[in-house]
Amino acid sequence: MQTTLRNFTIMTGNITFTIIKPGAVSHEHIGDILKMISEAGFSIAAMKYTKLSQIQAAYFYNVHKERSFFSGLVEFMTSGPIVVAILEKENAVEDYRKLIGNTDPAKAEPGTIRKLFAESVQRNAVHGSDSDSNARKEADFFFSKSERFDRDGNFLELVPAE
Ligand code: CMP
Repeated sequence: MQTTLRNFTIMTGNITFTIIKPGAVSHEHIGDILKMISEAGFSIAAMKYTKLSQIQAAYFYNVHKERSFFSGLVEFMTSGPIVVAILEKENAVEDYRKLIGNTDPAKAEPGTIRKLFAESVQRNAVHGSDSDSNARKEADFFFSKSERFDRDGNFLELVPAE
């Protein structure tokens, strides 16, 4: 749901959060991936080029801390610059997961971002939020209120759905 006050929009869904990961960045796929995102109808609500510290990567992927791949994942995610973005579209979380495809590129549908640009399940080109509540948490982790906007340029406030 979206409510627009003066220069200020409250969004309770319809956003997802993405990372273009170090492998896709170093192989010069940022432009190709952003083009696919745009052509699929997503609007960029926030975006930055940055690099994760070990602490940031471990915090972001904390849910996987007991998994055998956790240390390799943190090492990979801190190995080079990334692009982080908030994407806005109706049904954003589900539609973006369809666009990026299965976590494992070997299982991803043809034409998906991971099928086209991922190297392996770990170096899988992009991250996409798996729920509305994680999308909001992940967006809040990387972007302050003054760094995110709706399609009309209003500041975007993200609040939990009722
Ligand atoms: P992502 O969508 O960023 O969310 C968690 C990440 O963990 C996932 O993409 C993969 O990069 C990584 N991951 C998940 N399963 C495995 C696995 N079996 N081996 C290595 N990395 C994995």
